[in-house]
Amino acid sequence: MSVEIPTHWINIAADLPGDPPPPPLSPQTGQPAGPDDLTPIFPIGLIQQEVSFDPEIAIPDAVREAYALWRPTPLRRARRFEQALGTKARIYYKYEGVSPAGSHKPNTAVAQAYENAQAGIRKLVTETGAGQWGSSLAFACSLFGLECEVFMVGSSYDQKPYRRSMMQTWGATVHRSPSDLTESGRANAQHPTGSLGIAISEAVEVAAQAPDTNYALGSVLNHVLLHQTVIGTEAIAQMELSGDQPDVVVGCVGGGSNFGGMTFPFLREKLRGDRDVRFLAAEPAACPTLTRGVYHYDYGDTAGLTPLMPMYTLGHDFVPAPVHAGGLRYHGDSPIVSALVRAGLVEARAYRQNETFDAAVRFARSEGIIPAPEPAHAIRAVIEEATAADEAREERVILFNLCGHGHFDLAAYDAYLAGTLEDPEFSESDMEAALARLPEAPALA
Ligand SMILES: Cc1ncc(COP(=O)(O)O)c(C=O)c1O
Repeated sequence: MSVEIPTHWINIAADLPGDPPPPPLSPQTGQPAGPDDLTPIFPIGLIQQEVSFDPEIAIPDAVREAYALWRPTPLRRARRFEQALGTKARIYYKYEGVSPAGSHKPNTAVAQAYENAQAGIRKLVTETGAGQWGSSLAFACSLFGLECEVFMVGSSYDQKPYRRSMMQTWGATVHRSPSDLTESGRANAQHPTGSLGIAISEAVEVAAQAPDTNYALGSVLNHVLLHQTVIGTEAIAQMELSGDQPDVVVGCVGGGSNFGGMTFPFLREKLRGDRDVRFLAAEPAACPTLTRGVYHYDYGDTAGLTPLMPMYTLGHDFVPAPVHAGGLRYHGDSPIVSALVRAGLVEARAYRQNETFDAAVRFARSEGIIPAPEPAHAIRAVIEEATAADEAREERVILFNLCGHGHFDLAAYDAYLAGTLEDPEFSESDMEAALARLPEAPALA
């Protein structure tokens, strides 16, 4: 179904009900963080997007030209999957795995690389969990003539050597995190599997030290979710062509970017009274930020270098079990997605590793595409929704974001097929210990 590449990103901040979301706080003063707290690591163009309340923001021509390498992405009805499930529900998916890096992450990577290049920055530093974000930024930096350095979470570095090769092919330098190159890395040597929180600390530390070097984040922040709204904008136009409208939109949530990108354009129509639709966020039971975390100000990284953000969190130094959905191993979540869960506008559910791989394999055997372990959580939720609709004898149209392929995740599929994939327990006591170290901050309503 052919549609245009969107001309604007949708800024849901303009349509959110109630008071404006609580501001991020400076880690030094505890006061609302202003642009000055962000300029050492972000270019002004992105800071303006981060704090904007304009309902739409024009996509620069150079970014749309880069998008044209893989956008618009396909939206398909999963008829064979419906048959395999024996459901009467109609299931659609938007496939972001057609991008050069294999996921939705380049949608923001090219926008971020472009703004940094415009600002005269020479190099970007970042972390990567699943390896998807690091490869996306490496690719985007190669388009805009920037150097790229990536701290890759230890467990993913070991599980996915070819993600590293991909980043290097696009010209990036890759370090296993925790590394001995930074203070934050050395201080966390006792956690050899690493975590996104630790890798973010390492990258921010490096970026803050050099004026020609900036940091780039692949999720969580408002501007990142903003860039991802091209997914939902295209999906609205494509669903229109299909003749169906979704009753429920499903996505997996690590930091919230593919979920926000898919759902915010639909949510805007719902908030304006033009659409009736539910939203469902799927996360791992081993890192259940939205379903088990607390709503509190917390740091985005382990070392406490980033601003404090109002979000659901398991505690900034909670180290999740090394599940294969590396992109979902994050202690916090996007402040906007967190506020929507808090307000009851988004429902959240957590799934265990084996049941998500079971769902992914059923999908692969009917639709052909091998999903990344992250969207396998969304597929698990889709099966639940379809079953519930059949049991209630309801018609239901389900749309989900298949935000990446799993071609570099086959070690995880190997383990699942061999019956050796573990379902690590979420450690309530580790979370309680990490929550006891939450920073002092005003209580959130
Ligand atoms: C394929 C894929 N899906 C989902 C995620 C989770 O991130 P987000 O919640 O920002 O979409 C990642 C993160 O690396 C990813 O690589």
